[in-house]
Amino acid sequence: MDDEPAALNALVRAAECMNLQCQTAVNAEQALAILEKTLTPVVVTDLRMPGLGGVWLVREIRKRWPKVAVIVLTALHEMDAMTQCLDAGAHQYFLKPINFNEFHHALQAALTSQRQKQEQERRHGVLEQCLRRQHTRLRRTYLAAINSLVRLLEARDPYTCGHSLRVCTYAARLAAKLGLADTEQAHVQLAAKLHDIGKVALPESILNKPGPLSPEEFLPVRKHPVIAERILAPTLRKRAVLAAIRGHHERWDGLGYPDNLRGGNIPLAARMLAVADCFDALTSHRAYRAAMCFGDAVAVLRKEAGTKLDPELVPVFIDLIENETEPCLLLRR
Ligand SMILES: [Fe+2]
Ligand SMILES: [Fe+2]
Repeated sequence: MDDEPAALNALVRAAECMNLQCQTAVNAEQALAILEKTLTPVVVTDLRMPGLGGVWLVREIRKRWPKVAVIVLTALHEMDAMTQCLDAGAHQYFLKPINFNEFHHALQAALTSQRQKQEQERRHGVLEQCLRRQHTRLRRTYLAAINSLVRLLEARDPYTCGHSLRVCTYAARLAAKLGLADTEQAHVQLAAKLHDIGKVALPESILNKPGPLSPEEFLPVRKHPVIAERILAPTLRKRAVLAAIRGHHERWDGLGYPDNLRGGNIPLAARMLAVADCFDALTSHRAYRAAMCFGDAVAVLRKEAGTKLDPELVPVFIDLIENETEPCLLLRR
């Protein structure tokens, strides 16, 4: 770009000698219009021109097309403006009158640098794609390992078969109904699936005892949320999921375990798990008692709202299960 036609022609000739395609402009607006329409690796511009000056143009190009190289042409007395151009991101400057050999060299260097940048970007893109694929693969492997752990736990305790999956479904419904963000919903679901994983550490004699547990037998059971957290913490970096698992046996009145948290101090996801967990336990057969019918289980939930369970979550949960249509959950009604 140059507002002097003779200078413009000389630049075009120099570029065409290098087999480069050129478009010319006589002011900044025209130059920007060309850049908007045409993919341009290098802009050569005069510094002093009518209207918006060269410094403005360099800034505008940097802002809108950061990858375009800019070479500025200037007279000796404009060195202050030249410094501003370099500060604004111009790649190189040339004092007029131009030495065409040097100009060729500068154009070549600018183009080579552009190609290198493009190649770098292409490699970066390929690398990013590879990393994304690896991440997806790792995540799948991780989730498969988690599912195996859950199956292992449930295989040892036939009375809780399917428990984790049902708690996961209830918790997912509750999270959606409460309008939680997608990531929070995913965290609640993962926590629900894994909430009892700490029971793998319990002996079979306690896990399948056909009767209520004695206080001594109950001691190791009380540790299962903390054990779950310890098992998962090295691989599961999401604090919210670990906190929900650790807190799923906390009680609204502060009499739960392991931390005796109370009311709103218990993480929301843990309070949600507690409601879903409680309902599924009530409606499931145990070695020492038969499953409760839907109406009785709902009555227990209502009774425990405000003591064991979050009083605001219970009515939302009851409303949800009363309108449940999922076949495997309908059986619980
Ligand atoms: Fe549990
Ligand atoms: Fe549970």
